[in-house]
Amino acid sequence: MDKFIIKGGRRLSGEVTISGAKNAAVAILPAVILSDEPCVIENVPSISDVNISLRILKEMGAEVENIGKDTYRIDPTHIDKCCVPYETARKMRASYYFLGALLGKFNKARVSMPGGCPLGDRPIDQHLKAFSALGANYSLTQGMIDLTADKLSGSQIFFDVVTVGATMNAMLAAVKAEGLTIIENAAKEPHIVDLANFLNSMGANIMGAGTDVIKIRGVEHLHGTTYAVIPDQIEAGTFMIAAAATKGDVLIKNIIPKHLESITKKLEKIGVSIEQYDDSLRVWVEGPLVKANVKTTPHPGFPTDMQPQIATLLTLAEGTSIITEGVWEQRFRYVDELRRMGADITVNGKVALVEGTGKLFGAPVKACDLRAGAALIIAGLAAQGITEIEDIFHIERGYDCMEGKLRELGADIEKVSVPDKASAKSDKKEAV
Ligand code: EPU
Repeated sequence: MDKFIIKGGRRLSGEVTISGAKNAAVAILPAVILSDEPCVIENVPSISDVNISLRILKEMGAEVENIGKDTYRIDPTHIDKCCVPYETARKMRASYYFLGALLGKFNKARVSMPGGCPLGDRPIDQHLKAFSALGANYSLTQGMIDLTADKLSGSQIFFDVVTVGATMNAMLAAVKAEGLTIIENAAKEPHIVDLANFLNSMGANIMGAGTDVIKIRGVEHLHGTTYAVIPDQIEAGTFMIAAAATKGDVLIKNIIPKHLESITKKLEKIGVSIEQYDDSLRVWVEGPLVKANVKTTPHPGFPTDMQPQIATLLTLAEGTSIITEGVWEQRFRYVDELRRMGADITVNGKVALVEGTGKLFGAPVKACDLRAGAALIIAGLAAQGITEIEDIFHIERGYDCMEGKLRELGADIEKVSVPDKASAKSDKKEAV
């Protein structure tokens, strides 16, 4: 079992370079299946969700070659299996993108239901609704989702909820369907635009990504391309908050400031100083941190994936803050762990009251999901004393060398391996 040991109380300072976006990469890698030629994907983050995506591609028959730091050449032309078995699908929620990509390319797909996860109910009804609208039949048997279609035809798809995953899956399945597909009430996250840009660079015809109406005119063939994944908005936001929580001064490089607007505005309200440049920003703290209310909503609102991190910062601020979770049913599971570190947070349904105590204390804690883990790291960096974080495999799903980057900024953090029977058990847990 690996864990992080953090000796808190050190100001972060210096420069950090943000890696490629997890939630873009885990869609772009399966999207390569749609190409009739090899593709080169750059700025791929080194995280376990990416490793699993690459493993699934290899198991299907794709040739995957690491041709440089963060760069992969993927040749999908020899793919001869349209199945993602339980053993791999269960490890990563985003394995559902193989449904859209395989259906779009081969008119069939067989993918195990993605595993449950600790954020509450995660249905895939909207994904299936999109596939059906395009002409696919689906069946759910023994934990496998089977999709088949004689042919895929463009269609009008109206999502009942704003969903990132179903919007991306609809794009993957529609990109080669005959005729025009119109997706309404589409999600607008930066990774939606990134997937559209990637597909368009292969010859697709997708318009409107980043707005709530996406139009896709189907094309017969998609060709090879070289494409760089966008920087990770959430990794950048996490480092911004880590800098603020330690009253540090950090230059965050390789970012798109526009993607961070909602985070930047909220942090400024809390009293954090931020200076933006073309592809970097500087974060530092001069005066006191003060309370703020935060409501998470789909993009361009404040991202749910930053909610545990900002809650941690607000425990260090003056006054009482109200946090309202607007996306997931259960995104406050980390609160129990933060309480062990001295946080005063009361949760009632989707609302949390954070009493700024100004101080946190080191304690042994457990990451219950990816962003909860990030929040505990921030808490550990700001706390007095030593924090030990267990179950860091959650963190390694989505953060590229988090401890190495923090050490470069002056943090006292180390990863230690503790021989423990639980490590095998941890590996079996589901992804976020
Ligand atoms: N929903 C449905 N039906 C569906 C799909 C979604 O009702 O068929 C509901 C969900 O229950 C949820 C809401 O719609 O209440 C939004 O879910 P969405 O589909 O947008 O989430 P997702 O695609 O499963 C992605 C990210 C999450 C991130 C959410 C919201 C990936 C791989 N995951 O999940 O990222 O929280 O969008 O932005 O892209 C993370 O990175 O830590 C993470 C959990």
